[in-house]
Amino acid sequence: MPRIVVVGSINMDLVTLAPRFPGPGETLLGNRFFTTPGGKGANQAVAAARLGAEVAMVGALGRDAFGDQLHAGLAQEGIDLAHVIRLDDVGSGSASITVAEGDNEIIVVPAANARVTPAQVEAADAAIARADVVLVQLEIPLDTVEATLRLGHRLEVPVILNPAPAQKLPGDWLKLVSYITPNQHELAAVLDQDVRTDFRELMRRAPCPVVLTRGGEGAWYRDPAYPEPVHQPGFAVDAVDTTGAGDTFNGALAVFLHEGLPQAVRKACAAAALSVTKLGAQGGMPTAGELEMLLAR
Ligand code: RIB
Repeated sequence: MPRIVVVGSINMDLVTLAPRFPGPGETLLGNRFFTTPGGKGANQAVAAARLGAEVAMVGALGRDAFGDQLHAGLAQEGIDLAHVIRLDDVGSGSASITVAEGDNEIIVVPAANARVTPAQVEAADAAIARADVVLVQLEIPLDTVEATLRLGHRLEVPVILNPAPAQKLPGDWLKLVSYITPNQHELAAVLDQDVRTDFRELMRRAPCPVVLTRGGEGAWYRDPAYPEPVHQPGFAVDAVDTTGAGDTFNGALAVFLHEGLPQAVRKACAAAALSVTKLGAQGGMPTAGELEMLLAR
């Protein structure tokens, strides 16, 4: 059973299903509203735990009702929360999500997530030293992301950086990353390139191994062992809600990395496909058994 540490955000998702996205200044009648656990870090942790990994999380929650619900949900998934702090003077992170037209729009308010510190990462060094893989995203402060990359590098534990939400990164970070897992927009932002550049060209310009996600088209990967980008096609499913598909991909990639990159990317694509068949970021994340059934089909 792989051991995985996730350093990242925990949000309550406030989801509205709508017939289409509203324009600026427009009020629209939606079809349904619900709250459900989310946050890129928490989603990746849950995806990995459902697939059978032993998962520990480093993060922060407010001491509020959302914080209580999110903490209980993660604990129920079997995730070790010893390094998730509770803060009295700030609320838990939230994300307002509109799902419409087969896509989504998300506004994140980081709140407690903005207070995940490098010191918390250092305090989790024993868990990180024992881990097979560390996962980190960009919904927490960048100095904390950097501390995670540096600690992983020092302890020789592979770190997967999921550079979401998109932003430009300090160039020397990419030397510390074992795998970077952007979509095309995120890769362009990371490399400070025009997003219209062909994605294969973007992948060639990245100085580190890249696993590029392409939604329903699957993923492309390139590392020193596979210098030309290789395509893993997506798995055809009826998509209901694509929120959290990238997070499911990352969680699964971490779980199956020990099987080699081609196999890990294939299983991550399958897990991501299953995740979009149900509502909510974590709603459709598969168990190991459910994943096997799709792969055997
Ligand atoms: O990647 C999806 C996630 O992004 C949502 O769960 C939301 O909380 C935001 O963090």
